[in-house]
Amino acid sequence: MFSLASLLVLGFVALTNSQYQPTWKSIDSRPLPSWYDDSKVGIFIHWGVFSVPSFGSEWFWEQWQQRKLKPFVDFMDRNYKPNFTYAAFAPSFTCEFYDPEQWADIFNASGARYVVLTSKHHEGYTLWPSKVSWNWNAVDVGPKRDLLGDLANAIRKKTNIRFGVYHSLFEWFHPLYLYDKSNDWKSQLFVKAKTMPELIELVNIYKPEVIWSDGDWEAPDTYWNSRGFLAWLYNKSPVKNTVVVNDRWGSGIACHHGGFFTCQDKYNPGKLQNRKWEDAMTLDKSSWGYRRTANLEDYLSMEELVSTLAETVSCGGNILINVGPTHDGRIIPIFEERLRNLGKWLSVNGEAVYESRPWTYQNDTVTPNIWYTKGGKNAVVPSVYVFVLNWPKNNQLYLGAPVLNSNSKISMLGVKDILDFKKDATGGIMIYFPQLTPDVLPCQWAWVLKMQGVVNYQ
Ligand SMILES: *[C@@H]1O[C@H](CO)[C@@H](O)[C@H](O)[C@H]1NC(C)=O
Ligand SMILES: *[C@@H]1O[C@H](CO)[C@@H](O)[C@H](O)[C@H]1NC(C)=O
Ligand SMILES: *[C@@H]1O[C@H](CO)[C@@H](O)[C@H](O)[C@H]1NC(C)=O
Repeated sequence: MFSLASLLVLGFVALTNSQYQPTWKSIDSRPLPSWYDDSKVGIFIHWGVFSVPSFGSEWFWEQWQQRKLKPFVDFMDRNYKPNFTYAAFAPSFTCEFYDPEQWADIFNASGARYVVLTSKHHEGYTLWPSKVSWNWNAVDVGPKRDLLGDLANAIRKKTNIRFGVYHSLFEWFHPLYLYDKSNDWKSQLFVKAKTMPELIELVNIYKPEVIWSDGDWEAPDTYWNSRGFLAWLYNKSPVKNTVVVNDRWGSGIACHHGGFFTCQDKYNPGKLQNRKWEDAMTLDKSSWGYRRTANLEDYLSMEELVSTLAETVSCGGNILINVGPTHDGRIIPIFEERLRNLGKWLSVNGEAVYESRPWTYQNDTVTPNIWYTKGGKNAVVPSVYVFVLNWPKNNQLYLGAPVLNSNSKISMLGVKDILDFKKDATGGIMIYFPQLTPDVLPCQWAWVLKMQGVVNYQ
């Protein structure tokens, strides 16, 4: 008998075989796997041959030989033989101190829940032994080691962190790319010989759960075959159920289509967004790759890092915090210190961050530098969390957004006492902070209040 149930089963099989079509409408309709929104904090790693000159930024090659910017040209003239090529830096990408288990330990201690490594930046050098990157990959030249695979293994072995990759679609100087460009993108030699095989290889071998695409902006998504790739990724790939991608899949696509939105670098809109988004930012304010000439003030302070995190999470974003390791494989102590400090802060305040959701208000209506979240799907008691970036004068904090009554309860994460508060005639509340000496402060940068019984919780 041809039952309704068997029809449904057949329909289901047809759907699961090619549930997503290579159209933006279909691709955009895929629900973002929930682990991503719940995670909130990720680590970005920019590492490659550019880590050898470690001068200026990871755009070194382009700035030296394409734009011919004076500081880069002078740097080469002063320090290298005439006619030194960028490729000649690769043997010095030695990574002799690279200890992926130690990296995994630092990342885990930061409280991050996913890691995104540059599998290949715009220079084209792959951190894994790609079959389509002949003599321009980490096993053929430089460390002679599968840097990417070793990090993926260490992270998966030692932690619950999810492993993801950054991948640049374009390569500044690849002859096939330049050929297609000169054809006004009517040929696709580069995409067919390089980009697609490379992406498919990455996914099949390393099973990344984030694909953070970049280097898309010169050519349309039709040139890149982005929709075809994403339909394959979502329908058939080994990570089809858990993978998340960003939005950099062709000129005009960022901020419009794909998975989560990154829009532009260091995107931090300060307002609630309709779609899940990510603030990809970097601890060295001027570079993503390691930079030997960075000064102390070029690194984000803990106050800046925590305040960016609070603002981002309040407005529905994730934060992707970048570090640039050195050519010999180290994460320098200043990055390590920021990451471990962040982890200490999250160990007290993580309840307001992980799995949280934006509240009705993102920031306060009266007092500046106050950000809100509310408890997520696993919260037992509905709570509103208040990120207080500066300790209030006279220990008194005035808030305009939450409506409280006599059953409401306020505490500070990491502190046992219940806090007193008083309503004023306009409905705002004055909260009396505990008088804490530094030795009993729960944390050093930004304090989080937890409010229960908030009348306007919804
Ligand atoms: C550098 O390259 C140019 C052009 O190929 C050549 O004429 C010149 O002799 C080279 N200089 C050195 C020092 O090798
Ligand atoms: C990773 O971090 C979590 C908390 O942030 C901790 O509970 C766990 O023990 C850590 N794992 C390792 C292997 O260090
Ligand atoms: C809250 O954020 C909005 C939007 O960015 C801004 O206009 C407003 O001034 C902020 N409120 C306070 C009190 O800082």
